[in-house]
Amino acid sequence: MQQFEQKTALITGASSGIGLATAQALLAQGARRVYITGRDQAKLAAAQAQLGERAIALVADSSDIASLAALHGEIVQRGDRLDFLFANAGIAFYNEFGDTTPATFDRLFDTNVKGVFFTVQTLLPLINDGGAIVLNASIAANLGMPNLSLYNASKAAVRSFARSWASDLKPRRIRVNAVSPGMTRTPILENGLGLDEAKLEGVTQMLGETAPAGRMGETGEIAAAVLFLASPASSYVNGVELVVDGGYSQV
Ligand SMILES: NC(=O)c1ccc[n+]([C@@H]2O[C@H](COP(=O)([O-])OP(=O)(O)OC[C@H]3O[C@@H](n4cnc5c(N)ncnc54)[C@H](OP(=O)(O)O)[C@@H]3O)[C@@H](O)[C@H]2O)c1
Repeated sequence: MQQFEQKTALITGASSGIGLATAQALLAQGARRVYITGRDQAKLAAAQAQLGERAIALVADSSDIASLAALHGEIVQRGDRLDFLFANAGIAFYNEFGDTTPATFDRLFDTNVKGVFFTVQTLLPLINDGGAIVLNASIAANLGMPNLSLYNASKAAVRSFARSWASDLKPRRIRVNAVSPGMTRTPILENGLGLDEAKLEGVTQMLGETAPAGRMGETGEIAAAVLFLASPASSYVNGVELVVDGGYSQV
């Protein structure tokens, strides 16, 4: 028997990168149905085609409360409940401290912090007692990096949510954990952080010299950690941050 047989999951921001790889992994482990979201209909349709008919792609903007309510409605309409929620949708960009506008602040926090908070709160009534929630934080949550104060602070908030919600959801036996990936090869590196091939080469070289693993992460490696946190194998793991970074931030 595959470990996610009969299980229904929702992954926000799964039209590419870590979310898409996690959807693939859940389906490969027998998941009955995996809902995936994103803002871009065309990207989502391509992801759905790749994942097959047990995936259901729904356009939903995590930063928009009405859109999250509509997402809740779509799942109810299909008569589904959720065993697992992966609040993964996130954006990244640099901000220069001293020259950051309130609009820039809101743009990042609306998706990465408010979006995660209201994604989980909105969908909570659909999550079965005994289910699991994983939040995608980042090793950035515990690091200081130049021109990344907004992104890093947003991920510190996400990591913190996992601690508080693990207690809040005790009565329903829903475990809440955070996964903190290190540098992982996904579109966010180019689309969000503007890392072109030359800059990526520089990052790869830096990791080669400083990280125990000596390389960037692959999406499947993050997905494997998320599946562990979603599965009964982690039944006594709650409120933690599971760092998956090849050791970069740990040595
Ligand atoms: N890659 C890394 O090195 C790394 C490291 C640590 C943590 N992370 C975290 O991992 C998560 C996934 O990122 P990724 O690296 O896999 O990058 P990605 O490939 O760009 O994936 C981001 C996903 O989120 C969706 N998204 C963005 N804003 C959204 C919103 N407001 N509502 C709904 N969906 C939204 C994107 O689709 P649309 O643009 O179509 O909405 C896309 O599907 C993020 O939270 C990121 O911060 C990444």
